[in-house]
Amino acid sequence: MILINGAAGTQISAQDRGLHYGDGVFETLAVRAGVPLLWDRHMQRLSTGCARLGITPPDTAMLEAEARQVCTSSSAAQAVLKIIITRGAGARGYRMTTPVPATRILALYPWASWPEDFAQHGVRVRVCATRLGLNPVLAGIKHLNRLEQVLARNEWSDADIPEGLMLDAADCVIEGTMSNVFVVRDGKLYTPDVSRCGIAGIVRGLIMEQPGVECAVTDLTLSDMQNADEVFLCNSVIGVWPVRELDGVQLSPGLLTRRIAVYVDDLMIPC
Ligand SMILES: Cc1ncc(COP(=O)(O)O)c(C=O)c1O
Repeated sequence: MILINGAAGTQISAQDRGLHYGDGVFETLAVRAGVPLLWDRHMQRLSTGCARLGITPPDTAMLEAEARQVCTSSSAAQAVLKIIITRGAGARGYRMTTPVPATRILALYPWASWPEDFAQHGVRVRVCATRLGLNPVLAGIKHLNRLEQVLARNEWSDADIPEGLMLDAADCVIEGTMSNVFVVRDGKLYTPDVSRCGIAGIVRGLIMEQPGVECAVTDLTLSDMQNADEVFLCNSVIGVWPVRELDGVQLSPGLLTRRIAVYVDDLMIPC
C-alpha cells in the first residue's frame, strides 16, 4: 500500500521538489507484525533532517497514524516501510518563494529476502570506485540525494556480493552503499566519522550506545579494515552482517560481532 498525503495512490505532482531537486528526506524502517521498529529513532532523524533542510515536518501523530494504516494493510510477518518527506510542489527554480505543506509518501514493501547465510556466516564486500563527496551540511541526515549510492551500487551485479564500501576523496572508508560499517580491534569497536559525508545510521547509533562496549569514531583506511580482527555492517533492515571477505581479503566473523548482532536483534522487536 502507498499513502500520499494521507490518500491511497501512486501519483505525486510533477512539480514536487523531491523529484526536481531531491529536496527532502526519507527513512527506511523494518516492520514486524504490522509494527514499524525503532519508530522514535527514525522520527528523530527525520525531524533533524527536516530542520537541517528548513522543511516544516508533518505532524508526528498524523505520520504515526498513517504509518500504522500502511503497516497493517498487509498480513506479512515482516515488511519494509519507506517514508519520504519532500518540501512539496513549487514553481521552477531552486528558491522556494511560497511555502507549501510538505509532501508525505508512505509505502510498504515486501521484506528483503537476503540469504540466511549472510547474517550467520558473513558477507563478501567489494570496494566501490564511486567516491563520496564531502559536505558537512548534508552529512549525517538521510536526504533524498542518493546519486552516489545509485552509481556505486550499479558498479557490480554479482548476487554473492551484497554490499560495497564507499570511500571519500581522502581514502577514508565512510560506509557501505546501504549500511554503516564497524571494525573490531583488540576488543574495541571503531566506526568512521560521518560528519563530512555518510549517514548517521539508526543501528550505528544503537551500537555506539551499547552499554559495556567501548566504541570510538575514527578515520579508517581500507587497510585498517582488512587488518581488523572483525568487520561488520549494519542497517535497519539487515540488522548486522559480519564481513567474511573484503576486496579479496578473508576475514573471520568473531565473537564481538555475534554479540552485537544479538543485541541489535533483541532491540528489533515490535513493542
Ligand atoms: C548510505 C547508507 N548509510 C547507512 C545506512 C544505515 O542506516 P540505518 O541504520 O538508519 O538503516 C543506510 C541505510 O539505508 C544507507 O543507505
